[in-house]
Amino acid sequence: MKPLRLALTKGRLEKDTVGLFEKMGFDCTNLHEKGRKLILSIPETNMEIVLAKAADVITYVEHGVCDIGVVGKDTIMENSSSFYEVLDLGFGRCRFALAGKKGADFYEGYALKTIATKYPNVARSYFKHKGMDIDIVKIEGSVELAPLLGLADAIVDIVETGTTLKENGLEVFETIADISARMIVNIASLKLRKQEIEGLIAKIEQVQKSGSEQSNA
Ligand code: PRP
Repeated sequence: MKPLRLALTKGRLEKDTVGLFEKMGFDCTNLHEKGRKLILSIPETNMEIVLAKAADVITYVEHGVCDIGVVGKDTIMENSSSFYEVLDLGFGRCRFALAGKKGADFYEGYALKTIATKYPNVARSYFKHKGMDIDIVKIEGSVELAPLLGLADAIVDIVETGTTLKENGLEVFETIADISARMIVNIASLKLRKQEIEGLIAKIEQVQKSGSEQSNA
């Protein structure tokens, strides 16, 4: 049978996912010794891991070339969602926040505010809910620069430890949403490979449960 393909977000979520797989008893040697390889098998299973950028994880799962994906809630919120979000994996915890120069009053005055962000859809929908019109400037990285350079009144970005904000004289004005890694599943795959996928979900939940029991003991 065709391998069950799991698209995994490279970088931050990769390490925690490999840790989870190891707790599930999977042999992750190929993932540890991957070099520049992008598709890796897990021995003794019918699973294949595809390493991809976050937004591409969603694309591969939506198109059905990967059955499952591990991706941050931030990427899910920013992109379309023609897939099932089946599990909160509990790691990769951070938050979406509105932030800007320390001590500044973001809502002061009547002028249209400019928001710099890597997540224009998240920013737009946040201010739409507030009934507030804003200008958005799309930035590709180190969004914290925008208020410092005078390009924006504030940023909508991910805050994990808060170090980047702090070291640059910025602070959180408002928390927009909590974020963590999620497991997503292609709509057809969940029907066609129900047993395998549900088996995998059950195994993850078992590991999560024993982890939380140990930390409560
Ligand atoms: C993210 C985010 C912040 C930083 C927050 O950037 O955009 O800049 O991490 O982390 P902290 O609260 O722990 O300091 P990332 O490292 O993904 O790099 P990028 O800005 O180049 O995308």
